[in-house]
Amino acid sequence: GESLETLLVERRGRVGLITLNRPKALNALNATLATELTGVLAEFDADEAIGCSVITGSEKAFAAGADVKEMAGKAYPQALLEDFIAVWDGFARLRKPVIAAVSGFALGGGCELAMLCDLIIASDSAKFGQPEIRLGVVPGIGGTQRLVRAIGKAKAMEMVLTGRMMEAAEAEQAGLVARVVPAADLLAEALKTAETIAAMPLPAVIAAKDCVDRAYELTLAEGVRYERRAFYALFASEDQKEGMAAFIEKRPPVFKHR
Ligand code: CAA
Repeated sequence: GESLETLLVERRGRVGLITLNRPKALNALNATLATELTGVLAEFDADEAIGCSVITGSEKAFAAGADVKEMAGKAYPQALLEDFIAVWDGFARLRKPVIAAVSGFALGGGCELAMLCDLIIASDSAKFGQPEIRLGVVPGIGGTQRLVRAIGKAKAMEMVLTGRMMEAAEAEQAGLVARVVPAADLLAEALKTAETIAAMPLPAVIAAKDCVDRAYELTLAEGVRYERRAFYALFASEDQKEGMAAFIEKRPPVFKHR
């Protein structure tokens, strides 16, 4: 497949697979990686042949955070004017689902990257943490906000204030990860989930992801109204007609948009 400076990129059927590839830096997220990753994800999102993406790292590290060596010397006006975190806003524009397959360290920006994805599947060796406080900063890619929403204030506050790591089992129990699997099965399990999603009718997939994401932004009443609009709108899709007809006729559906 396509090989960039910091990523390995392949297509596995309708699944786009991106492997973070800075092994000597435990996949620390430097500017090049951020640009390449958000660029490839935007390409996959626009590609009719792709229905879901998977981001993974190495067995030792999903990503050990933003690149401290690149950041350390920045001055405040430079950070503000460069706005070097803004590149990650690209995730908010993705309409197709992205799965994080996490093994080993997911620390700082690495934990935040996993949380930017739509769901996290973790190996039993995964370790999540927000150690920024030890560096004299706070999480900068949404960690203080997404961690609270994922695991609640008590555990999020403790992690952000102490920098302690959370093991896979605790992360699953707390609701940060969808599923924990043995390390040897991580990629296969993540790809299987991605293939399942990529085989679904795309208009419904896009609406489902969009509606679930609204739950973070809207009141319950507004969110339920938003969902109902999306639900009714899907009756305009050929895939709704096909999906329901196939169920009634007891045959497999043949979706047009997937
Ligand atoms: N940035 C730059 N380089 C990093 C890095 C990072 N975040 N994490 C690891 N590396 C580098 C190390 O400097 C080391 O490089 P050298 O071989 O050149 O010395 C190499 O990767 C291997 O790392 P270690 O030797 O430290 O490996 P270890 O197994 O002893 O420890 C670890 C692993 C506990 C993950 C440790 O590397 C570590 O604590 N890393 C930093 C974690 C961290 O603080 N992350 C938060 C970054 S700040 C941030 O992310 C801000 C934000 O929200 C935007």
